[in-house]
Amino acid sequence: MTKNQGLVDRSMQAVWHPCTQMKQHEQLPLVPIQSGEGVWLTDADGHRYIDAVSSWWVNLFGHNNPRIKDAIKQQLDTLEHVMLAGFTHEPVVELSEQLSSLTGLGHAFYASDGASATEIALKMSFHYWRNTGQPQKDQFISLQNSYHGETLGALGVTDVAIFKDTYAPLLSQSAQVPSPDFRLAEAGESAEAFALRCADALEVYVAAHHQTLAAFIIEPLVQCATGMAMYDSAYIKRAREICDQYSVHLIADEIAVGFGRTGSMFACEQAGVKPDFICLSKGITGGYLPLSTVLTTDTVYNAFYDDSTVKGFLHSHSYTGNPLACSAALATLAIFKTDDVINKNKQTAAALSDKMQVLTHLPIQHMRNQGMIWAFDVKTDNASFSVDCFQAALAQGVLLRPIGSTVYFMPPYIINETEMDFLVQTTKASIETAL
Ligand SMILES: Cc1ncc(COP(=O)(O)O)c(C=O)c1O
Repeated sequence: MTKNQGLVDRSMQAVWHPCTQMKQHEQLPLVPIQSGEGVWLTDADGHRYIDAVSSWWVNLFGHNNPRIKDAIKQQLDTLEHVMLAGFTHEPVVELSEQLSSLTGLGHAFYASDGASATEIALKMSFHYWRNTGQPQKDQFISLQNSYHGETLGALGVTDVAIFKDTYAPLLSQSAQVPSPDFRLAEAGESAEAFALRCADALEVYVAAHHQTLAAFIIEPLVQCATGMAMYDSAYIKRAREICDQYSVHLIADEIAVGFGRTGSMFACEQAGVKPDFICLSKGITGGYLPLSTVLTTDTVYNAFYDDSTVKGFLHSHSYTGNPLACSAALATLAIFKTDDVINKNKQTAAALSDKMQVLTHLPIQHMRNQGMIWAFDVKTDNASFSVDCFQAALAQGVLLRPIGSTVYFMPPYIINETEMDFLVQTTKASIETAL
């Protein structure tokens, strides 16, 4: 038996894998990864795969990154963890200060996963309105096809039927407004004009319901989980104006798009907008350790600052502000500073976009790019295209994870020209096999 097979068998016996119908692994075996280096993952039998999805969109500067690794090792020799209620430590203070100066928001509240950050932002918004004497503002809205995580609160503002429908009786209801996904624009309509048309629909909804609305939560610029739906920044700008006009919070879920993914440090910057809450996770530690955070305005923070305990934000997770995770995040931010990452990514993005021109000969549509995210939709009648394409790519050394018929690249930022060529050529061959 190969090492791969041994590990797969044991995993099938012992592990319940996420977002998976486990029985499907009878046909589609798990891939046991043993090590990582740069953009490459290596399995237990020594096969290598380019990690074109950055391990679920978390990895920024490659696997086995020496700088992030060293920072964690150093922290490990000092303090691995201490509870953050009643205690503090230098990595969490330093990280909060740096995130504050990057976002223009403050008082970072920590958790470990993206969905927990969504929960925190929703609860804080709801609680803010109670603390300020408007408890009737207890409803949330999100975009059609939104994804904000899968815990119950986050699922309540998520709009993906396959994740949500089973749990519908457990969820708080929220309303969805039209998505500015520019694939849905009329023929001849610009992405900006379509975004503004969708913002008009938002305004109609908010004007009618603002008295009961706490917050509008968005994934700025790219709705990743629904298939890398991209939209014009004019939507975010108008959403900010509408939320201001009607006293509704704007929550920017930058869990997937933050930390340079869309071409700027944070996606909201491209709209010149400061949200009331920003949710960050995934790339925050360069893909090393689980960490998420929510930063908010002084106005929100001050509404909780009171002699009354219950006016405080009584929410916690055991590993809140874990020092090892904070040290990984600080090393990640240091790389942004010293390596001029945002500018360098522009060259990387131009090079990969250029190489992707060969894919335009395939039956595809809606080729799109935003910063370090690329996507296109394959025209195919094959109902199992995503699985077939995944398997064909894997057999040739690329980890692709199409979403339905949408093929996308979200590679680590350090991908080089040779790796890009390999990625594009393998993707082309895999699509041709899977059509
Ligand atoms: C926009 C967005 N929000 C929230 C989440 C949930 O994050 P996590 O999977 O860490 O709970 C994700 C995950 O993909 C996401 O893309």
